[in-house]
Amino acid sequence: MTQFQLWSRSTEDTLMIGERLGHMAEAGDLFALDGDLGAGKTHFSKGLAKGLGVQAMVNSPTFTILKVYNGRLPFYHIDAYRLDEDGEEDLGLLEYMEGEGVTVVEWASILRTQLPKNRIDITLKHVDDHVRKLDVYSNHDRYEPVFKELTKR
Ligand SMILES: Nc1ncnc2c1ncn2[C@@H]1O[C@H](COP(=O)(O)OP(=O)(O)OP(=O)(O)O)[C@@H](O)[C@H]1O
Ligand SMILES: [Mg+2]
Repeated sequence: MTQFQLWSRSTEDTLMIGERLGHMAEAGDLFALDGDLGAGKTHFSKGLAKGLGVQAMVNSPTFTILKVYNGRLPFYHIDAYRLDEDGEEDLGLLEYMEGEGVTVVEWASILRTQLPKNRIDITLKHVDDHVRKLDVYSNHDRYEPVFKELTKR
């Protein structure tokens, strides 16, 4: 199990944290994001996409639930905000999350039990105008080297 906190002091910091994770991401990786409106989930996702080599502009997919981008690996950007908490709808999202790409889910707690165990959970907290605290957690071995690299300065 790995658990640690990161502090972001600007929008750029959050983009950079995402980008570093995007560089290290491998096929099948899943980043499950939670946090209030405006906490920075989409900016983290934009950074991660950049680290994956996605050239296209990544926006919040709120009205579409899933967007697929081409990068070094496919990038699946999911926004669960509009999904039913009971999760009865089968949208085939699991197939993406367990597929050959890298997935970021915003509002991941809405999908809770449906999320594969192979994932990183990141909760972003609004501290003040520019500061965000990121609680990062995983109980999957795959991410240990990633965390080691990420906590290196
Ligand atoms: N340290 C920071 N990290 C990330 N965003 C920050 C930070 N400081 C300020 N911001 C600002 O907060 C906003 C974050 O918006 P963003 O769309 O990324 O949040 P979100 O969590 O995806 O929101 P939503 O729940 O509405 O989808 C942006 O306007 C961004 O510039
Ligand atoms: Mg968003």
